[in-house]
Amino acid sequence: MPHTVGIVRRYQHLWQLEGIEEVITLGEGRTPLIPVHPPWHPQKGPQVWGKLEGCNPTGSFKDRGMTVAVTMAKAQGKRVALCASTGNTAASAAAYAARAGMTAVVVIPGGKVAPGKLLQVQAYGALLLEVEGAFDVALAALRRAMADQPEWELVNSVNPWRILGQESAAYEIAEDLGRAPDLLVIPVGNAGNITAYHRGFQRLGLKPPRFIGGQAAGAASMVEGRDIEHPETVASAIRIGKPVSRPYAEEAVRTTGGAFVAVSDEAILAAQAELARQGIFVEPASATPYAVLTKLWDQGALLRDPDSIIVLIFTGNGLKDADTALRNFPARRAQWDGQPLSLAALVQREVEHV
Ligand code: F0G
Repeated sequence: MPHTVGIVRRYQHLWQLEGIEEVITLGEGRTPLIPVHPPWHPQKGPQVWGKLEGCNPTGSFKDRGMTVAVTMAKAQGKRVALCASTGNTAASAAAYAARAGMTAVVVIPGGKVAPGKLLQVQAYGALLLEVEGAFDVALAALRRAMADQPEWELVNSVNPWRILGQESAAYEIAEDLGRAPDLLVIPVGNAGNITAYHRGFQRLGLKPPRFIGGQAAGAASMVEGRDIEHPETVASAIRIGKPVSRPYAEEAVRTTGGAFVAVSDEAILAAQAELARQGIFVEPASATPYAVLTKLWDQGALLRDPDSIIVLIFTGNGLKDADTALRNFPARRAQWDGQPLSLAALVQREVEHV
């Protein structure tokens, strides 16, 4: 295996973790940073880039932190990895625990997790427990139950190794751009990831970008500055009412002159569709930054300097939530009788459609 495979080997020098013998990795990280082309974008506007975190091994950014958390848990002789999750953490924990030969137990809000994520948990063989209520209920119950279990490791983002590993996405952006962006737009649920990016740029000694935390209007705990008892949104990954990392996320936004911005479910689905038309298929939560960008543009609140750089964090792959996507993307089918001439007519019509 090349020495640089995965987050731990690539960045352990930054973290002073050089003594690790066994690294639990699936080759996470090094995700693409590609140009995004909003249709409203002026020719001489700021550069807009998207970080495709859905290209990680289990299809979301969670793998960056999970490799570190599970590597450290294994090194400490832990045997069980547990998490509460809206789905992606569960999929990632299940995969890395399987890789490590550990047991995984995931607690999810019953009936509220996207089918692709459930399938992943099943495929990797984790034990699935459902609770009634939102993610916050699941996490609180699990944290209570974790006391006095020396062989168990909680791999939610309250685990500091998770946040540390997720910093790596900020390092990659700085490597790719040769500097930190001016503005970074990121979905916020439990508020761990925005915290990680902020710390990541700081660790490199760079001036962090202005942080814009995107939330769904029905789960806008940071925007509203209060806990939401019954969060509700089509973006099930960020259907969270009591963000554990609230203070750090507030700090990231306040100290960089950023903001938290809420967008409606309709705007999130429209953003998902617009991104797909650019070849970028993300799950609804991950379309939030694009919806936020569009909203800021409409309000005239966006940087217009052509030299400025905006980065959107696309946190998870669109295949994870096939149910929502099937509703959001109607199939485009046509009848064909198998004859060359009629195919030519159909193709002609299609060319005109595009
Ligand atoms: N985007 C996706 C696709 C997510 O799965 C999550 C969180 C977020 C954004 C928000 O990140 O919580 O660090 O602010 N998913 C967690 C989970 C809660 O259980 O999979 P955050």
